[in-house]
Amino acid sequence: MLFRNTTDRFGLVAKTFHWLTAILLVGSFTLAVMLMDLPLSPRKLQLYSWHKWVGVTVFLLTALRLSWRLANPVPQPPANMPHWQRRLASLSHAALYTILIIMPLTGWVMSSALNLPLVYFGLIYIPSPFGVDAALGEAMKVVHRTLAVILLILISGHAAAALYHHVIRRDDVLRRMLPWPSRLRMSRADP
Ligand code: HEM
Ligand code: HEM
Repeated sequence: MLFRNTTDRFGLVAKTFHWLTAILLVGSFTLAVMLMDLPLSPRKLQLYSWHKWVGVTVFLLTALRLSWRLANPVPQPPANMPHWQRRLASLSHAALYTILIIMPLTGWVMSSALNLPLVYFGLIYIPSPFGVDAALGEAMKVVHRTLAVILLILISGHAAAALYHHVIRRDDVLRRMLPWPSRLRMSRADP
């Protein structure tokens, strides 16, 4: 089964969701950093729009990805992985998914509240039920910024854990998420 997950490895669809989201996040952070220091100008508004479109796309992809995850087996951790590491892995994955959903929502409410309406790809106007409200906009800005920092910390820890598995434990955890097909070393690890 090329497209679906098995209990040993991620399928093509889950891998595509994973790496596409990673690329979009790099784009989203790059645009955010580029626009932060600019004075209000047409250029800044353009970058805002691109940042928002990328963020909404991350939201939609994450919703699809979670539905796909529910309909598929989840690859099991290597059998010899300590219990606390399994717990930490599940918790950090849950935290990543939660932020990938909440972050775009806070961005949407923030920008609508600050009177920067969200028009997805310049075509679909998505109004916020909270409307224009400067105090709410400022509060959401703080939440959005805080979540961005937490997300960066989680991603760094996540990538470090993947490298730890690959280089130190020398198991299949990274191999089975690589975007290209790769031969597994030990499949379901030692009993
Ligand atoms: C996963 C998706 C997203 C990520 C990772 C992300 C990340 C960021 C980051 C790092 C910043 C800079 C924060 C700072 O100023 O210190 C930012 C700012 C901003 N984001 Fe997002 N964002 C996402 C989605 C969205 C969405 C969907 C919207 C709107 C629909 C949005 C609207 C904004 C706005 C208006 C700002 C500027 C706020 C300010 O002046 O600080 N973001 N975002
Ligand atoms: C940049 C943003 C990234 C995000 C938001 C992200 C998010 C996630 C999430 C939510 C999962 C859980 C998949 C599931 O069980 O449903 C996952 C799995 C995984 N990610 Fe990432 N990831 C990112 C980047 C990376 C990078 C850079 C690497 C490699 C260095 C990586 C390696 C892995 C591996 C190996 C797995 C599989 C873990 C397992 O088998 O349980 N990820 N990622």
